[in-house]
Amino acid sequence: MRAVIAEAHGGPEVLRLAERDSPQPGPGQLLVDVTIAGVNYMDIYQREGRPPYRGDVPFVPGSEGAGTVAAVGPDVPGVRQGDRVAWTGISGCYAEQVIIPADRAVPVPEEIDLETAGAVMLQGMTAHYLATDTYPVAEGDPAVVHAAAGGVGLLLTQIVKMRGGVVIATTSTLQKAELARAAGADHVASYDDFGVVVREATGGEGATVVYDGVGQATFDASLAALRRRGYMVLYGGASGPVPPVDPQRLQTGGSLFLTRPTLVDYIATREELLSRAEDLFGWIRQGKLDVRIGGRYPLAEAARAHEDLAARRTTGKLILLPR
Ligand SMILES: NC(=O)c1ccc[n+]([C@@H]2O[C@H](COP(=O)([O-])OP(=O)(O)OC[C@H]3O[C@@H](n4cnc5c(N)ncnc54)[C@H](OP(=O)(O)O)[C@@H]3O)[C@@H](O)[C@H]2O)c1
Repeated sequence: MRAVIAEAHGGPEVLRLAERDSPQPGPGQLLVDVTIAGVNYMDIYQREGRPPYRGDVPFVPGSEGAGTVAAVGPDVPGVRQGDRVAWTGISGCYAEQVIIPADRAVPVPEEIDLETAGAVMLQGMTAHYLATDTYPVAEGDPAVVHAAAGGVGLLLTQIVKMRGGVVIATTSTLQKAELARAAGADHVASYDDFGVVVREATGGEGATVVYDGVGQATFDASLAALRRRGYMVLYGGASGPVPPVDPQRLQTGGSLFLTRPTLVDYIATREELLSRAEDLFGWIRQGKLDVRIGGRYPLAEAARAHEDLAARRTTGKLILLPR
């Protein structure tokens, strides 16, 4: 089977296509034919070797996807060859086949296509936990969503709107601003003036929550945009990691809360994993959540997908098509 290998840490040029033996599922495992592999910003951090994402090389990137079960290992009740499943948090997904633990496989309902199911496993579950658990958005809450036309951003904007929040979105281009508006954003600002837009939209009070996956470039202005006792949810660093923060800044900012959440802690049990997936699939079925596939790439062009994502040329979800 073919897989993308990162030979070393570095730029997109370290990714190359290679032939590998088909893996065999052990006890509690499934061998899956990958229909789509999701591309995520985290894949870039891992390829670069950015702490704390640095792992051993060589490795097969990718942690998300959807496909059909090709073989079932021993001690896996209730799963059959041909079943459709999706997953996140599994390494080695930029490949034609992958081994996944059966207890991390999310069954995909008949009405949801594999492309859509795979596309929401990482960014969709993230948007879900951010808006429902990290800071549960309530009716009327002004919420800043940075990079609102991106993979997480478009989904998060829609989920905040479903919960009755007021979205103040940031994007870098007019075309991206249009997409954020179409997803429900009430206000769209640039990264330079979102603080002003937040003040205007909230009568000077500030936002209840800022969802910030941009990191270094936005962190200071994000903190400054919060109201008293507001929530700073730093969930990524697309522009670079945020330097150490003095806790006193939370006091002077108005008794603020700061959290740096990560998906693995919000889908730690199978129950939580399936419950988030069920919500997402339900919203998709009901037409409440639009999943935008912003780019489809053959497996051999994984490097181009990484280049496009890092260069801010993309919107929505990027996927690789191994077959
Ligand atoms: N903590 C978690 O559980 C978790 C889970 C999933 C993702 N994340 C994080 O969420 C963020 C978004 O991930 P994603 O996969 O959905 O990517 P994405 O949002 O589709 O792509 C990143 C976007 O960030 C914006 N951006 C701003 N400054 C940038 C810069 N200097 N370089 C590159 N991009 C910049 C760009 O949008 P504009 O052009 O509009 O600025 C770009 O399109 C990432 O930080 C990722 O690590 C965290």
